Amino acid sequence: MCGIVGYIGKNKALPRVLTGLKFLEYRGYDSAGVAYIIDNEIKITKEVGRISSLEKLIDEDSNSYVAIGHTRWATHGEPSVSNSHPHRVGKFTVVHNGIIENYLKLKEDLKKKGITFLSSTDTEVIPALLDYYYKEEKNILKTIKKVISILDGSFALGIICDDDKNNLYAVRRGSPLIVAKDKDGMFLASDVPAILSYTNKYILLDNDEIVKIGEDCYQVYDQNLKEKEKELKTFEGSYDAAMLNGYPHYMLKEICEEEKVFLDTLNYYVQDNAFKDNIPEFKHYKNIHIVACGSAYYVGCIGKSLIEEYAGIPVYVEVASEYRYKRNFYDENTLVIVISQSGETADSLEALRKANKDGIDTLAIVNVVLSSIAREAKYTLYVKAGPEIAVATTKAFLAQTTLMALLAVKLAKKEELLKEFQGLDKKIKELLNRSYLDYALDIYQKDNAFFIGRLVDYALCLEGSLKLKETAYINSMAFQAGELKHGTISLIDKGTPVIGICTNSSIAPKTISNLKEVAARGAYIIYITNEKVNDEFYNKVIYIPKVHNIVTPILAVIPLQLISYEVAKLRGCDIDKPRNLAKSVTVE
Ligand code: F6R
Repeated sequence: MCGIVGYIGKNKALPRVLTGLKFLEYRGYDSAGVAYIIDNEIKITKEVGRISSLEKLIDEDSNSYVAIGHTRWATHGEPSVSNSHPHRVGKFTVVHNGIIENYLKLKEDLKKKGITFLSSTDTEVIPALLDYYYKEEKNILKTIKKVISILDGSFALGIICDDDKNNLYAVRRGSPLIVAKDKDGMFLASDVPAILSYTNKYILLDNDEIVKIGEDCYQVYDQNLKEKEKELKTFEGSYDAAMLNGYPHYMLKEICEEEKVFLDTLNYYVQDNAFKDNIPEFKHYKNIHIVACGSAYYVGCIGKSLIEEYAGIPVYVEVASEYRYKRNFYDENTLVIVISQSGETADSLEALRKANKDGIDTLAIVNVVLSSIAREAKYTLYVKAGPEIAVATTKAFLAQTTLMALLAVKLAKKEELLKEFQGLDKKIKELLNRSYLDYALDIYQKDNAFFIGRLVDYALCLEGSLKLKETAYINSMAFQAGELKHGTISLIDKGTPVIGICTNSSIAPKTISNLKEVAARGAYIIYITNEKVNDEFYNKVIYIPKVHNIVTPILAVIPLQLISYEVAKLRGCDIDKPRNLAKSVTVE
């Protein structure tokens, strides 16, 4: 998703803004731009592609002390210089993250008033509206207030007005935005990593708050332009999380952190094989809806298996972008669980809001502290994954899976199962220390791959398949093991990789039969299991440690992640920033 960084202070602005933008690269982008003030003039430079291409067009050492920068992930209009931000109309220069839903109507109205547009973006209506209403209001804050009352959709905005080049202005609704302070200046950013090279003191803006930022101070205003006190917070995470620390890619670094992430999540909620008091004593819900997107949705599928199996509560897992528009059958006996690493995914947030509005109990399982989903749910449980930079989620998936397993134990009221989590960190470490290159070599030159498994193994297949698609660009599909033969088996050809997962001995014979069916049609079988098989129907096997079923998915996902990583590397893919993807999907 788009990223915003702004700086105003005693130091040169461009190196700070460009450094910040590089730390937001993980969000995904296809063009970048900056607006900066030099000799009291505003200059704008934009370029398609990487920030490094933009850097070549700019003298970073320029005597500019005020700048706003942006990385754009195209939604309205192709990636091009004219569609890149900042956008400027009249006296206003703006960077924007989010989507203005009523922009077509606004554009038509503004065109009738004689305003011309240079881009096909939704964003350009914002500086156009600001410039238009400024002529009436003659006051920047009042103008911003007026304009945001007209906008529908989500936005985080960084604004420079030609009449006040000694301040930056910012406002947000829906999309995240922070203001940060170091000893020499002030920053504006979409996310904390952008400012951590300089400071860890920040405030998170709330919806519709407007902020005026000077070189060493800031003032927050509420919707009625009343001044508001907002104290700086200290970001407790470490700068390390946003650094590669010798790893070639964030994806690998984050997978290697999984032993710690597991322990941090476990120890946050459990002590001496008993729950601490930071998970609420939930009432007995008669049914549970889990709502999420992408990999978080697959964690929900794992959660469904575990909660139904151990707590005996029926669970319905739904994709958030569907859930928010469909008729949902919930009542006072329903718990709606929203799972989200970022806590800002637009569809998950809207699904949560829908359930909240209907008076249903909601529980957020989130990684990013104080994100919108974390703040708006009735209950919030954090996973302790730390900042995740690679676009493809790995360590957050493992942490969410750990928390779902803990939640299943809690809802089942079977605390005795907590001992099954003990020592799992060592088994995680053992899996992380293995090489998966051999399996990757079998896959990386293929055009298609399949993952098959039953029940919780099917949920793991979905995640394994998504990882391979998104990081290595291999067309891959996941199937319930018994389902492949009902049509899709026609795609199995000589050498087609089929990754079979079976971690439950009671269903192993069935899954093995299905693997034999595809082996008979020439498939190349990689079998992932936790039980010795004598029958050599596979080409390669990965044995994961045998542990209790409630914690097995935590281990089983690791080989899947590392195989995808190795395949992506062999194929020369942009592992941390796969094409077309964004880390935090703040648009619908
Ligand atoms: C895949 C991936 C995505 C996210 C999805 C939800 O590797 O990262 O599928 O899981 O976009 O994001 P969050 O969890 O931030 O709501």
